[in-house]
Amino acid sequence: MSRKGIILAGGSGTRLYPLSKVVTKQLMPVYDKPMIYYPLSVLMLAGIREILIITTPEDRPAFERLFGDGSELGLSIIYATQEKPEGIGQALLIGRDFAARGSIALILGDNLFFGHGLADSLRRVADRSDGATVFAYKVKDPERYGVVDFDDSGRVVSIEEKPEKPRSSYAITGLYFYDARAADIAASLEPSARGELEITDVNRAYLESGDLKVEVLGRGIAWLDTGTFDSLLQAANFMHAIEERQGLKVACIEEIAYQLGYIDREQLERMAAKMGNEYGRYLTDIVSRDRRDG
Ligand code: TTP
Repeated sequence: MSRKGIILAGGSGTRLYPLSKVVTKQLMPVYDKPMIYYPLSVLMLAGIREILIITTPEDRPAFERLFGDGSELGLSIIYATQEKPEGIGQALLIGRDFAARGSIALILGDNLFFGHGLADSLRRVADRSDGATVFAYKVKDPERYGVVDFDDSGRVVSIEEKPEKPRSSYAITGLYFYDARAADIAASLEPSARGELEITDVNRAYLESGDLKVEVLGRGIAWLDTGTFDSLLQAANFMHAIEERQGLKVACIEEIAYQLGYIDREQLERMAAKMGNEYGRYLTDIVSRDRRDG
């Protein structure tokens, strides 16, 4: 059974208030596309085509308007809701039936990844069928995240959630690959002191059974989150700078669907025609280039 993907796109977005009063963070623009395009593109690049999007009950219709059943992109997308933001780990319980005892990838709707070699590494990790794989990234403010510490030989020795005194500078990013055990592990956990089902506890359970792999993302990769005014603006500026310089779009899910062969030229052209703007022209140019090159 091929791996399925979950995008967790609920939450309260209190740090972005009043921006997030009526618009959920994950639908806010990051330069030229809604934020959720970025995590969706990561799942697509990992070769995942069956996707569950978890939202708040209020925001669900907006996501459904955006993606429908996913067939326009050659994907299958379904939706579920999280009544209250009771932790990232809850996504595994909400997605339990969807996962149907298969392996999954879980990504947070506000996590953006960009960089050389990312697609290869995603595919490699997605092909592993046993255990869990998470990604570590060196940051200036590890205390805001789950923090992983390594010994001299690079073996993982501890994982701690938002420690006051982090043992390392390596944060665990919001992208997690799990085998079929993840939902059972989440179901066996108690909520933490802050009342959340902690994904860090799920990862620790995998660590304790010797089944956790931590891949370090090097400094050539950008991992951005977008939870604050500054980080949201910085992410938009970052994507703008890259796209302007290269004339190529980051996380253009329509282009990715076409490159992966999930949709054909006619389908891409149809989407381009519906947009009829600069984004649409970008898609049309891909088709024209391909026609020219045969
Ligand atoms: P956070 O940034 O931790 O929380 P938030 O988005 O609710 O924002 P704030 O802290 O400003 O109130 O969440 C990280 C991502 O995970 C984000 O995309 C929302 C999502 N999330 C849920 O969908 N449900 C949850 O229970 C939690 C904790 C997070």
